[in-house]
Formats: sequence, structure tokens, C-alpha cells
Amino acid sequence: EMKAMSGVAAGTLDVVAITTAEYFVPHLLAEFGRRYPDIGFRLTVNNREAVYEQLREQRVDLAIMGTPPRGLPLRRIPFAPHPLSFVAAPDHPLAGRRHIPPAALAGERLLLRERGSGTRSNLERFLRAHGVKALRADEMGSNETLKQAAMAGMGVAFLSHHTFAMELESGRLVRLDVQDTPVVREWNVLVHADRPPTPALEALLDFLQAEGAERMRAVGG
Ligand code: PGA
Repeated sequence: EMKAMSGVAAGTLDVVAITTAEYFVPHLLAEFGRRYPDIGFRLTVNNREAVYEQLREQRVDLAIMGTPPRGLPLRRIPFAPHPLSFVAAPDHPLAGRRHIPPAALAGERLLLRERGSGTRSNLERFLRAHGVKALRADEMGSNETLKQAAMAGMGVAFLSHHTFAMELESGRLVRLDVQDTPVVREWNVLVHADRPPTPALEALLDFLQAEGAERMRAVGG
């Protein structure tokens, strides 16, 4: 409605972030909130299945995720690059090696996210593209668990850069220099096509589009 569009940006925005986005979404909302102090948030963090349902039933204003779900009428606005890489403990035999061929991963114990995760499907696509069949792989249901397992020396984890910025800085994890990595995907904001635009929603979409990428550089972008 036009009246709403020209109104003041206020109210509460319902935002859902896919698990991996929890590392940067609060940073984006903090900055946006300084500019629009009359806008409040209800932020949930969920897996892909739940995000899909929340979008489908229009229980949220917007979703932030990497790989968008199929089969829904959505407005999609890509707003930042999404780099993903292999990481391991600093004493791992591959740590410090230059230009590691992807084929070398076949001899490693890989630590993977659960089936259905966007991170997992990006890894599978990478391994397929390079003809790598990992012999040993352990599946874990969260980014945090994968980081802890990699730090404990269990193997090589494949993760979004946004999840391990602090561990790289403290030296508890190292990024492996595997050829053709980082894999660079994109972060999207998704709004159900039937969702009526409001000044608050449009203000957040404009902010993400104009400044999202730059703001995310501080958190591993
Ligand atoms: P994930 O999300 O937490 O499911 O791996 C990333 C994505 O949406 O691609």
C-alpha cells in the first residue's frame, strides 16, 4: 500500500538466518539498528528445512541464506560474496603446504556438515568437480562442532570463512591452501514474493544491498 511505503520506518522485523549466517547477521543488524533506532528485530537461526517452512508460510519478513531454496516464489537479492575453505589444526601435515592439489584430500579424514546443509552441498560440488572421492568422512551437525573437531586434530573441515575468523586470528585453525579454494558463492536475502513491502523491510533490503558486502569484511568476508 502506498501509504505504508511512504511511512516512517518503524516496527519489528522478523528475520531468519541460516545457521552459518549467525556469525555475521548480528553485526549487520547492529549497524542497521544504529541508523533506524525505531526498528526492532525478532531474529531466529534455523536449518534449511525450517527456513524453507518459515518463508513458505510467510512467518518471517526475510531470510538470509547462501543457497536459496527451490520451489518458492521469492525476491532474491545477493548482497555479499560467501567464501568457503578447508581448515585444520596448525600441526596438521597439510598445514603450511602450498598449492595442495584437491586429489590430496582423498587421503585425509574429512569433517563434513550434515546432509541438507548448504555448506555440505558446496563441498560435494567441489569434490565432484575435481573427481575426488573422500575415503574417510565424519559428519557433524553444526559449524561449531566441526571447528572443535578440527581444532582437536580429528581431520580437515570444510567451512564458510565467516565461521572461523576468530580461530584463524588466534591461530587455533589454519586455512589449507587447496587449489581452487576459496570456493566463492554468494549470500542472499530472500523475501516471499507475496510479502507486502513496508518501509522497515525496504530500508533493510536497501542497507544490505548498498553496504552488506563492505560490513561483512570485518567478519571474515
Ligand atoms: P548452511 O547454510 O548453514 O545450511 O550450510 C549455508 C547456505 O545457506 O548455503
